Amino acid sequence: MSTPSIVILISGSGSNLQAIIDAVAEGKIHASISAVISNHPDALGLKRAQAANIDTIVIDHTEFAERSQFDQTLTNQVAKLKPDLVVLAGFMRILSEEFITQFEERLLNIHPSLLPEFKGIQTHRRALEANKKQHGASVHFVSNELDSGPVVIQARIPVLSDDNEKTLAERVLQQEHVIYPIAIEWFVSGRVKLLNNQVYFDDKPIAEAATWISNTLSLPK
Ligand code: GAR
Repeated sequence: MSTPSIVILISGSGSNLQAIIDAVAEGKIHASISAVISNHPDALGLKRAQAANIDTIVIDHTEFAERSQFDQTLTNQVAKLKPDLVVLAGFMRILSEEFITQFEERLLNIHPSLLPEFKGIQTHRRALEANKKQHGASVHFVSNELDSGPVVIQARIPVLSDDNEKTLAERVLQQEHVIYPIAIEWFVSGRVKLLNNQVYFDDKPIAEAATWISNTLSLPK
């Protein structure tokens, strides 16, 4: 069997991208990254990809008069690469329905909250304002609704009494760097699949996502 290929979409810093690059290099993810695509020409993540000798592509959304033209260009570009998996790693554009349909069941996203809580932006601030005792991040398959779709794994951390938006964001991000490579390896190795909106783990339908809590992994149930 040939090595599964991954295309990664970013918009910014690319620290999750870096965690994935490192996991591939360390043999923790059995796949190759065929390209990194950014909608921002100056995204730091592009430099991270280039430093790892990964092809980079910029599709600058500001250069398109119509949103649909950007969407079409992105869809065509990713389709041309024929990826086994498309990974959204801080990609901050809402994807078109056509894109999601085309890559359905092989499209993963990471979101900085314990979904279904706090979809959208400013998740850390909202978790603090809501006095949450727990916060975290979720890796999920992408569906047509924003930050929705079946969750594969969640990292949960306590919200500390002296946490502010910055400290909480940093601690969640560290956890993201752990759970995203785990979920990606499960997908490329065939342990995790999505079929008809149901996640399967080792060929069994799951009712609960995996968790990563205090450095301990619990498998999906
Ligand atoms: C991450 O926290 C990721 O969960 C979030 O953007 C950040 C990207 O950081 N994604 C979303 O909010 C998607 N809705 P990175 O560029 O350093 O990986």
